[in-house]
Amino acid sequence: MERRKIIAGNWKMNMTPRQAVALCAELKDLVKTQEADVVYCVPAVDIVPVVEAVKGTNVEVGAENMYFESKGAYTGEISAEMLVDAGVKYVIIGHSERRDYFKEDDALLNKKVKKAFEAGLTPILCCGETLEQRETGVTMDWIRLQIKSDLVGITAQQVSSMVIAYEPIWAIGTGKTATTEQAQEVCKGIRDCIAEMYDNATAEAVRIQYGGSVNAGNAADLFAQPDIDGGLVGGASLKADFGKIVNYK
Ligand code: PGA
Repeated sequence: MERRKIIAGNWKMNMTPRQAVALCAELKDLVKTQEADVVYCVPAVDIVPVVEAVKGTNVEVGAENMYFESKGAYTGEISAEMLVDAGVKYVIIGHSERRDYFKEDDALLNKKVKKAFEAGLTPILCCGETLEQRETGVTMDWIRLQIKSDLVGITAQQVSSMVIAYEPIWAIGTGKTATTEQAQEVCKGIRDCIAEMYDNATAEAVRIQYGGSVNAGNAADLFAQPDIDGGLVGGASLKADFGKIVNYK
């Protein structure tokens, strides 16, 4: 079975609402493609104007975070239901910046993944090792632990429809991309882990992205790997280059 590629921009904490609309206009023709799903994961205040700006195009909108409760006294948080009502289809869960700076642990992320599915969002679940972990040789052990903990109670059918993003922390925003071999090896390891936890059909269906300094120059090589089904793109998603990444072939 051929998996459809999915290429998502992670805008992080960039772009005011006005800038966001301007960027959508700039990228509109550049990101046209029949070959892949294209997603902009944008800051919360940009969601409404970006959903409007990409109407009628091939671009879907994602959020960068959400909370696991539906509503109530959680000052500053945003629920999955709010995202769905605003027109959001995807949500990044467990980005390393959230795990690190905001102390989000696997128990919390598991609740978020569950809630995302319950509300009808597609999670883009992030995992990845530090440089120290890679050098110590525990990369795959660590990532398997993250995946297993974050997917507790998630069904095979749900996993088949989700996206997992492998993002080595040492490659994020550093200009240091993992080699295609390193990226492929871990993405395959994640697929093997899903096969063990569920079954081969689920492992074959789940889409696994690579993220970490993806750019117009390395996208084609990375996305040609058998277990890499697209990318989660930070810095390069904020410029015209994103069009080249989306049309990498
Ligand atoms: P980068 O970020 O492409 O700027 O390295 C990727 C990410 O953190 O999702």
